[in-house]
Amino acid sequence: MPGDNATKALIDTLNGLLADYFALYIKTKNYHWHVKGPQFHDLHLLFDTQATELFALTDVIAERVRKNGGNTLTSIGAIAGRSVIADDDREGVDAMAMVAALRDDNAALVARIRAAKAAATEAGDNATEGMADDWTDQAQQRVWFLSSILG
Ligand SMILES: [Fe+2]
Repeated sequence: MPGDNATKALIDTLNGLLADYFALYIKTKNYHWHVKGPQFHDLHLLFDTQATELFALTDVIAERVRKNGGNTLTSIGAIAGRSVIADDDREGVDAMAMVAALRDDNAALVARIRAAKAAATEAGDNATEGMADDWTDQAQQRVWFLSSILG
């Protein structure tokens, strides 16, 4: 582990963010698989697109941790211990409740990315700092799309 406190804080923040990406990925897939109702087709496809976006960043974030000299997540248990995204194991969740939950979760993710960017700035990690802007743009696009469905 690096000795620098700012780098340690960055690693910790990135690992929390990574856990959120994994948790939101599986939650979005859960909804992709289980959504029902007149908007089934659109939501089934939208949730899949968003899940693919989320999953694509997991490797990127984990490797930012390794490039900073830290260790990253190792298991489902590690993900569960670090994520702030709430599971939704209920059956028969209303389609619009799914949309609202993902909107809120992606908005929470925007805040977690902002914290990661600030930690990157503090640690002098310009690469993570720059990448975080793209992560934010993607998350805000998901929030926008989901919000627009709700009217
Ligand atoms: Fe699928």
